[in-house]
Amino acid sequence: MSRPNPAPEGAMTPELGIVLPAFNERGNVEPVLDALRASLHGIFYEVILVDDDSEDGTADLARSLSARYPELRVIQRINRYGLASACIEGMMASHAPYLAVMDCDLQHDEKILPQMLERLKTEKLDIVIGTRHAEGGSTGDFAASRRAISDTGRLLSRAIYRENISDPMSGFFVLDRRFLLQVVRTLSGTGYKILLDLLASAPQPVRFGEVGYTFRSRVHGSSKLDLLVSLEYLELLLDKLMGNYVPPRFVLFGMVGLVGLVLNLVLFDLLSEGLGLTLPVALAISGVVVMTANYWMNNQFTFRKFRLRGWGLLKGLGVFYLACSIGLFANVELATALRQSGFNQAAAVLTGVAVGSLWNYFMSSMLVWQIQRRRRRLAY
Ligand code: GDD
Ligand code: MN
Repeated sequence: MSRPNPAPEGAMTPELGIVLPAFNERGNVEPVLDALRASLHGIFYEVILVDDDSEDGTADLARSLSARYPELRVIQRINRYGLASACIEGMMASHAPYLAVMDCDLQHDEKILPQMLERLKTEKLDIVIGTRHAEGGSTGDFAASRRAISDTGRLLSRAIYRENISDPMSGFFVLDRRFLLQVVRTLSGTGYKILLDLLASAPQPVRFGEVGYTFRSRVHGSSKLDLLVSLEYLELLLDKLMGNYVPPRFVLFGMVGLVGLVLNLVLFDLLSEGLGLTLPVALAISGVVVMTANYWMNNQFTFRKFRLRGWGLLKGLGVFYLACSIGLFANVELATALRQSGFNQAAAVLTGVAVGSLWNYFMSSMLVWQIQRRRRRLAY
């Protein structure tokens, strides 16, 4: 294919920087580049592919293509992951006054890019969103389950952004870099929903436009949407709602704690009533089981970015037992003392639980998962 990416006489900087987040998209890179060339006639653009060290060699392939596709640059991040942060870094790496974000799997329809750019410029908008839920748009052959997840997410998004955006979950948009620079420092950067993050971080109402398109089905590779992605979405919502006061990780830790509490009650009942064990024995067994279960859940979810494996997992469990035992002891002592000094039962118990949980959380982050020390290596 000839090279329809003309630098107009004297122009050094592309007008449009197209960011392609990519993870295990080896089979899609070249088709996407060709599709862009075929639709962006007369637009001087560059492409920035942001790969998170995919094991299928996406970045190597992309670099080997750069002789044939000089519009392409590659950012290969090591020990980093996350769609939103990949998009942010890709956008920040371009000099272009207008920036597009588009998936690297051909599910977004690149043919609407010229129209999106045109509207952004002529209507002086902050952002133009490719939408599946408006005139000319559709989710294509989305499975029913996938559609339900998407609809729930859309509903929840109203908690942090109220404007009437038809597709706040879209990962396909073109924006003015001045808008990006306004909000980039307040972005959460967590998870998948970069568009929602951008919108919810803006200090003033965003001037947006929408262009419909049909979501194509995937040909190569597979979607990365899974439980973790939903969890990261929840974290984004929590962060935007109250991140200035409570870290979302603490909320997750608390949710795990609640699950543990229910498990503890059920198990204790089963052991003492069902099996007729004595109170201390039933308490001790259920306590150890629940602590272990909590440890596992926190390792899977709350501290998943710092997940422990192998020996580290066993060592961490030991430290977790120790930290939580001290937390429990403090909880009981404090509640007893408060009760004796005249507080009512509920206030005493709640204060004890709150202090115990805070202790457990800080000990867990600092001593068990060691997030301060390891953050340098395992950045988002
Ligand atoms: N660099 C990088 N790092 N890229 C990633 C990562 C990551 O951690 N995770 C996913 N990607 C890339 C994929 O390679 C793909 O090009 C794009 O981001 C979207 O990922 P998919 O796994 O294909 O997502 P999807 O098709 O389920 O979701 C799409 O539709 C959503 C709407 O339902 C995306 O466009 C979302 O942004 C969009 O919100
Ligand atoms: Mn996709």
